[in-house]
Formats: sequence, C-alpha cells, structure tokens
Amino acid sequence: MGSWEGSCWGWGRCAPGPLLLLSLLWAAPFALLGEETRQVSLEVISDWAGPPENLLHIRAVGTNSTLHYVWSTLGPPAVLLVATNTPHSALSVNWSLLLSSEPDGGLMVLPKDSVQFSSALVFTRLFEFDGTNTSGTATKPPGKPYPPYLLAKFSWNNVTGSLDPATLSATFQGHPIRDPTGAFTNGSLTFRVQAFPRSGRPTQPPRLLHTADTCQLEVALVGASPRGNRSLFGLEVAMLGPGPACPSVQGQSSIDDEYAPAVFQLDQLLWGSLPSGFVQWRPVAFSQKQGGRESALPCHASPPYPTLAYLLPQSPIVRAFFGSQNDFCAFNLTFGTPAGPGYWDHHYLSWSALLGVGAPPVDALSPLVLGIMAVALGAPALLLLVGGLFLLLGPKGYSEYQPIN
Ligand SMILES: *[C@@H]1O[C@H](CO)[C@@H](O)[C@H](O)[C@H]1NC(C)=O
Ligand SMILES: *[C@@H]1O[C@H](CO)[C@@H](O)[C@H](O)[C@H]1NC(C)=O
Ligand SMILES: *[C@@H]1O[C@H](CO)[C@@H](O)[C@H](O)[C@H]1NC(C)=O
Ligand SMILES: *[C@@H]1O[C@H](CO)[C@@H](O)[C@H](O)[C@H]1NC(C)=O
Ligand SMILES: *[C@@H]1O[C@H](CO)[C@@H](O)[C@H](O)[C@H]1NC(C)=O
Ligand SMILES: *[C@@H]1O[C@H](CO)[C@@H](O)[C@H](O)[C@H]1NC(C)=O
Ligand SMILES: *[C@@H]1O[C@H](CO)[C@@H](O)[C@H](O)[C@H]1NC(C)=O
Repeated sequence: MGSWEGSCWGWGRCAPGPLLLLSLLWAAPFALLGEETRQVSLEVISDWAGPPENLLHIRAVGTNSTLHYVWSTLGPPAVLLVATNTPHSALSVNWSLLLSSEPDGGLMVLPKDSVQFSSALVFTRLFEFDGTNTSGTATKPPGKPYPPYLLAKFSWNNVTGSLDPATLSATFQGHPIRDPTGAFTNGSLTFRVQAFPRSGRPTQPPRLLHTADTCQLEVALVGASPRGNRSLFGLEVAMLGPGPACPSVQGQSSIDDEYAPAVFQLDQLLWGSLPSGFVQWRPVAFSQKQGGRESALPCHASPPYPTLAYLLPQSPIVRAFFGSQNDFCAFNLTFGTPAGPGYWDHHYLSWSALLGVGAPPVDALSPLVLGIMAVALGAPALLLLVGGLFLLLGPKGYSEYQPIN
C-alpha cells in the first residue's frame, strides 16, 4: 500500500489538495451506484467457407441494453464498440463482403435503429525511439525514431486458443510478418482483452476500476529485441466516433490509496455528451509483469488530431461497420523516459486501458482511506469542540473547583 497522502512520483504528480479530497468524498457515494450486471459472452466468429480470421465478438447483455465489442486483427488490431437499447441486438457478419476490397456493410448490429452509440479504435503503429541522447525531460518525440512497426503487417495467433470463459478474456498475440533483423524472434506484441459481468478491480496494477459497461485492454510488448540501448516505445491509436469532432484527452486527478500505487491522474477520452463512449487509463505503464512502483513508467498521450482515412492503414471491420466516408482522429501514446525504468530492464512493457459507454467509472475512496480521513478530519474538529467547551465551561468549572477559603 502506498502512503495515501501522496508522495510525489518521479514525474511530479503530487499529493491531492483539499479540493480534490472534497471532490473525491463527494464522488464516493455516486460511484457505489454503478452496480449493474451484464450477461457476458465471448465468441470467435468464423467464416466456414474461407481462411480462418480472428474476429472476436464480446456481447454484454443488460436488462434493456446490449454492448457489442468486436475485436479483430484483420488488418491492424481494432475494436468496434456498439451500444444498443435492447437486450436482443445481434451482430451480423457477411464474410464475403468483409473480406472484399469494399467491405462496407459487411458488419452490422441489428436491429439498426437500436444502435445508440458506436465508435472504433485502431492500433496502427508501434514506434521505437532512441532515448540515449535525450535528456530526462519529456521531449516530443522522445528521441530519434527508428522505422515504426506497422501493425497491419503483423501475423497473429489463433485467438480461439486463448479464449478463457472463466475470466472472459482472450489474447491476440502477434509479430511482424517480415522481421529481417529478427527483433521479434523471441518476442511478441499482445492485446489482451477482458470483459466484466459486474464492477470490480483487478489485482494487477494499474488496478483500473471497471464496471459491467467496460472492456479492458492490456497491450504488452514482451521479449522483442530493442534496436538501441535505451529504446522508448510508443503506440499510435486512430479513432472514429459518432461525430467529426475529436475527443479531447482529459486529465482527472485520482487518488493514491491501497488500490493504486500513488496519487496520479486518470486520463480519459470522451466522445461528446451522454450516452457516449470513453477510453480511460492511468498515465502509467509497467516494465515488469508484476507491476509496482519500481517498474512504473510515465505514459504520455498527445492531443488527438483529425487525420484523413487514406493516411491510415484500413481496418476492414471499421470500414465494414462505418462505411468509407469517415473522419478519423489519431493520437500517440509514448511510454517512459530515458532516465528509466524502461523496456530495456526486462524487455517488457505493458499498458492498460478501459473502453466503455456511459459515465466513466469514478474512483471512490477505499474504506481504509475513508477511515483514515474520518480520523484525520474528525480529530481537529473534536479538538475544536473540546477546546470550545473548555472555554465555555472552563471559568465556571474553575470557580466550582476553587478551594473554599
Ligand atoms: C483456431 O483454432 C480452432 C480450434 O482450436 C480451429 O477450429 C480454427 O480452425 C483455428 N484457426 C486457425 C486460424 O488456425
Ligand atoms: C432500463 O431499465 C431500467 C430499470 O430496469 C430503467 O430504470 C431505465 O430507465 C431503462 N433505460 C432505458 C433507456 O429504457
Ligand atoms: C453478402 O453480401 C453479398 C454482396 O452484397 C450478397 O450477395 C450476399 O447475399 C450476402 N450474404 C449474406 C449471407 O447475406
Ligand atoms: C550522442 O551524444 C554523443 C555525446 O554527446 C555524441 O558523440 C553522439 O554523436 C550522439 N549521437 C547521436 C545519434 O546524436
Ligand atoms: C532467442 O532465444 C534463444 C534461446 O533463448 C536465444 O539463443 C537467441 O539468441 C534469442 N534470439 C534473439 C534475437 O533474442
Ligand atoms: C549499447 O551499449 C554498448 C556498451 O555500452 C555499446 O557498445 C553499443 O554500441 C551500444 N549500442 C547501441 C545500439 O547504441
Ligand atoms: C506519432 O508519432 C510519430 C513519430 O513521432 C509521428 O510520425 C506521428 O505523426 C504521430 N502521430 C500522431 C497522430 O500524432
């Protein structure tokens, strides 16, 4: 457990001010209301006629809504998030269309008029920067870039084998199809996705609070040979939302308690007003599988910018659902600083995020911290009260106990 009053981390995120404490106290009762549960199922959808492709459908059914997450490594790794206002909506796939050069209409969520919200994320490129000659401060880009890895040119495992109904998770594991330097001989890039039937918090840092309305993604780079001694990595993410406007990255102060290793931010992307979608993450990545303070590295997100669809590698599932006329936005995540810790320590890097619809989960204070705060806030009040009583009653008491002459 970290000290809740918040030691500063290396990159300067410090203790919360009184205002933050108050707002967290205020938020705490509301966060407890998000108790909704969903019936979650994971299914790998196959094209019996053609070559097998990775298309994972996560369906999360509530009392009067359904969330559909469609993850695929057809093209670059991508996810569609579609929310409907009925428990009976279904995903329909037309494989011959989906695999054609004009996939528009190849993926649909039916009935079409039940769709309340839809968005997509596409993971386009993995960057590697030479951090050796840069100072410890965050520079953009953080060093000389090596040629990026294009995730559309990766080959991926059979996701069926990684499906775990117990944890409602699946893992896409990939490496470049062409790997002339052999950097990925012993390495891979993985996208582990997990859905949840109810709210909770995993045991592994960054311990993001999830609800039944969210799906968690953990991206990990494991065992690949870096091209420099102090390589920093980055990930480019393209997104498509309901409107042409780019969502902004909002930083929200979060609190250090036994759930999170230090006081720091919760970053989130929100698409417009509710009901809307969001992506939420702590600006931290880890350089060891057992993530902790020592292996935590800062994660920096650049502001999303509009980008033209033709500049991005095409994701057939996104095109199949949204059609071809679209305004994408893109942003970069960069992990770590040359000062370390870094990927070079253990050839390991992981970063997690949640995506979902509705109001993003708000961190409530843990019971332990609420107890400490009750004591901390309560003690001075008690002293004041006692002091006040003493002032009021003191002289009288004094007179009462005056020795009788
Ligand atoms: C993936 O595995 C499943 C069963 O384990 C099999 O039916 C399917 O054909 C496999 N797909 C590929 C791409 O090998
Ligand atoms: C969904 O159902 C709940 C109660 O089951 C109700 O309070 C809520 O208004 C419903 N939402 C919609 C959008 O119909
Ligand atoms: C898939 O789309 C093609 C082209 O539009 C169409 O000819 C075919 O009937 C569709 N298949 C199904 C199963 O709907
Ligand atoms: C890095 O810095 C060293 C010493 O400051 C210098 O000799 C070297 O040329 C620099 N390398 C690059 C790639 O800039
Ligand atoms: C891959 O692992 C093997 C066995 O551990 C090792 O001999 C080899 O050097 C590694 N290759 C790379 C490129 O790291
Ligand atoms: C990495 O460091 C070693 C020893 O310090 C040096 O010999 C080597 O040239 C460096 N490699 C790169 C790619 O900078
Ligand atoms: C991400 O970073 C790379 C390398 O610095 C740059 O070429 C690219 O334009 C950036 N993309 C976005 C969306 O900022």
